[in-house]
Amino acid sequence: MTVRIFLKLIGGTLCVLILALAAVDILASRVAESSYREKLVRELSEKGNTIAALLRPGDLALAGRLKEAAHSSAARLTVVAGDGRVLADSEAESVRMDNHRGRPEVATALKGSVGSVVRKSGTTGIDYLYVAVPYQNGALRLAVPLTEVQAQVGEIRRRMLVSTALAFLPAVLVAALLSRFVSAKLGAIIEHAGKLAQGDFRARLGSQGMDELGVLAQKLNETGGNLEHMRDELQREHQELEKLERVRKDFVINVSHELRTPLASIQGYTETLLNGAVHEPETNVRFLHIIRQNVERLTNLASDLLTISRIELKSQKFQFAFYYANGLLIDCVDAMRPIADKKKLCLHLEPAPDKCEVFCDSKAVHQALTNLLDNAIKYTPENGDIYIGARRLAAKSPATQFVEFYVRDTGIGIPAPELPRLFERFYRVDKARSRELGGTGLGLAIVKHLARAHTGDVSVTSEPGLGSRFAFTIPVDDPGAVESGDKVQGQLTVS
Ligand SMILES: Nc1ncnc2c1ncn2[C@@H]1O[C@H](COP(=O)(O)OP(=O)(O)OP(=O)(O)O)[C@@H](O)[C@H]1O
Ligand SMILES: [Mg+2]
Repeated sequence: MTVRIFLKLIGGTLCVLILALAAVDILASRVAESSYREKLVRELSEKGNTIAALLRPGDLALAGRLKEAAHSSAARLTVVAGDGRVLADSEAESVRMDNHRGRPEVATALKGSVGSVVRKSGTTGIDYLYVAVPYQNGALRLAVPLTEVQAQVGEIRRRMLVSTALAFLPAVLVAALLSRFVSAKLGAIIEHAGKLAQGDFRARLGSQGMDELGVLAQKLNETGGNLEHMRDELQREHQELEKLERVRKDFVINVSHELRTPLASIQGYTETLLNGAVHEPETNVRFLHIIRQNVERLTNLASDLLTISRIELKSQKFQFAFYYANGLLIDCVDAMRPIADKKKLCLHLEPAPDKCEVFCDSKAVHQALTNLLDNAIKYTPENGDIYIGARRLAAKSPATQFVEFYVRDTGIGIPAPELPRLFERFYRVDKARSRELGGTGLGLAIVKHLARAHTGDVSVTSEPGLGSRFAFTIPVDDPGAVESGDKVQGQLTVS
């Protein structure tokens, strides 16, 4: 491909050179020939006039004298009478010669002017220059062969051609070098385009200068960069989609598994009762209790799943307003104290400073606190202590002012490697134990989603055997109003 362009450029240059040489040749030969002819016509007409003056009219020895004059002037001489008859000729017998009145040069001389013409001789086949001058009533004609003139013109043409060709030689060399240079650049660009076509978007062309090819190379590099960026984006999105697909599959598997266990249990105990156990007073009530427990578990699972999907799909409608943090804490403690008491756990309240407000949905904060307290009660052995409280966190700007709600217990604790995955859906440290306690592994995931819906976050610290501390943060102000710069007067509710 590039070789062909190179050859085309060189071929084009050579064509131009040949055309130029031909033009020079035609022009030079024409100019030289005409100027030589004019000079010769002038010389011959002068010689003719001189000879005419020397020849006497009616000279009987005209033929002999004509021969002498022809010899000294190196030209063939012919004397023509006024009626065109040839009176004498230095090389032929005049009586044998045709009437010359019709010859153009003679006709002109007969009219009183110098006539000249170039004609091929019928006998020698050589071009002759004929010049005729008026002589008495007739004409004196001189004829010389043009071979000398043609030889001189040929020499001039040869010299002109050689010098023109020599003058063009550097131009051809420069053209050849330029063609090679352009052809090499094009080769690199074509190779690069081939790489792009094969999907190698990381390849880059080196600088190709500031000309059009340089700009083309630069544009190709930009295109490669854009394509590389787009491909990376697509790969990233693809990986994201694959991850989402994995999460979705895991979710479906987990949900099916969580449904199957209580359903199988309900089915088993119901069949046992129907097969006669319903009439055995010592077992029927126990079986019915187990069935009710499993139904409760299914109900809890359904409601937890509903909560999570509503938050994730952002279809959960939150009622945001300003609340006192302590009011929210007391609400939750009041609701959970009977359960803690039942397990002989001591529930301690660590209140926030008076009038500490948060901007939240009270039901959401209540649910998050309940989930944490429920865990603390479940995973703390009898006679343990549970602390529930809130504190204002130090903030750099109003937009980052948060209150932290926490639940601390003296329970079984969690090994450090488990902590990072604790807030994932269905993740449980001890599956069998959690299931035994009626857990599905959605409680902490709900807390995380609720906190994030409030622009807050969750955290956990734990020591196996010593206890755990779970916390989530809630903003002090309406984040939207803080960002736009004007605090919206929210509804201040004290629960
Ligand atoms: N206070 C705690 N002490 C020790 N382990 C805890 C504590 N809180 C949570 N965990 C561990 O974290 C896991 C996930 O908790 P999460 O609340 O999400 O699920 P669950 O309590 O098992 O079920 P659910 O809350 O959906 O009824 C639990 O199964 C348990 O192993
Ligand atoms: Mg829980």
